[in-house]
Amino acid sequence: MSYGRITGWAVNLPERVLTNDDLSKMVDTSDEWIKARSGISSRHVDGKVTEMSAVAGRAAMEMAGLAPDQIDLLLLTTTTPGQRLPASASVIQHELGLSCGAMDMNAACSGFVYGLVTAMQFMDGGMERILLIGSDALSGIVDWTDRATCVLFGDGAGAVVLERTSGQPSLLGWDLMSDGSAASILYCDHGGTIVMHGKEVFRRAVMAMTNSAQNAMTRAEVAPDEISIVVPHQANVRIIEASLKRLEIPMEKTAIVLDRTGNTSAASIPLALVDALDKDRITPGDLILMVGFGAGMSSAAAVLRWDPPTA
Ligand code: COA
Repeated sequence: MSYGRITGWAVNLPERVLTNDDLSKMVDTSDEWIKARSGISSRHVDGKVTEMSAVAGRAAMEMAGLAPDQIDLLLLTTTTPGQRLPASASVIQHELGLSCGAMDMNAACSGFVYGLVTAMQFMDGGMERILLIGSDALSGIVDWTDRATCVLFGDGAGAVVLERTSGQPSLLGWDLMSDGSAASILYCDHGGTIVMHGKEVFRRAVMAMTNSAQNAMTRAEVAPDEISIVVPHQANVRIIEASLKRLEIPMEKTAIVLDRTGNTSAASIPLALVDALDKDRITPGDLILMVGFGAGMSSAAAVLRWDPPTA
């Protein structure tokens, strides 16, 4: 159990939108195929991780009412940093005027939950305020001539401010997992583009998502019917449907944005979380199940009690 609660949140998406119809002019595909196989209608492209993160991070800090010198750590989860070095977190730190440590973490599409669990451990160690950002610009590492991958991915950033509280614990249970034996089914070499064995990734994603979610709920001593909302990684609506069926959680309890974002990797869970908050789908005391999976194969889940700041 951990005591950091989310007190500010914001997202950023790059301006350029690519619809399925736009894609059908670039590769041999169609709006019907993409929607039916993935649930995606459009995605934002041409983003830069540092720029999207700075915009989302600044807005999350403003919402939390915190000045730059009050942040104790910046954690950026990304699989598409701007450069090999320095860490993109350092660039964002400077952009935001922070005076604290800053580092990148890479756990592919499970990155945001890995980052959340990591941030909570720092808070349990005494840190007071952490800015956690999940951001990816997959449009820069997609092969735009490969219809089997290019239709699935997009760019975005989501940021949350975590603050230590002496109240009730907020992170009730979590699970982090990786199965490196599956590294070859989804990868991108330095300077290369995403290579994916879609069917195998799909099969393993459902297993990984289900197992991680079950582990986190067991550790939190929470039953599936006590979960108020599931905020899953947004890769393919069919993966979410298959996993939730196994978990016996109805689809109505899921936050979905992938129809208009595609798979934004480390950004996808905060994008879906903020969308659910904007729609007033989460109220104080609600139990949120966040669950991610991705290249690695990595997976991660967290059960969080929603404990927003009082107005
Ligand atoms: N448009 C039209 N046809 C396409 C296509 C596209 N964009 N992409 C592939 N196809 C074709 C294939 O070539 C294949 O044709 P064939 O039968 O003549 O060989 C056919 O559609 C079926 O392909 P298949 O791979 O069996 O489809 P699928 O139902 O498995 O769906 C994915 C493909 C990629 C959508 C699905 O496997 C998937 O989502 N996998 C997981 C990917 C993922 O989530 N990755 C990120 C994890 S974090």
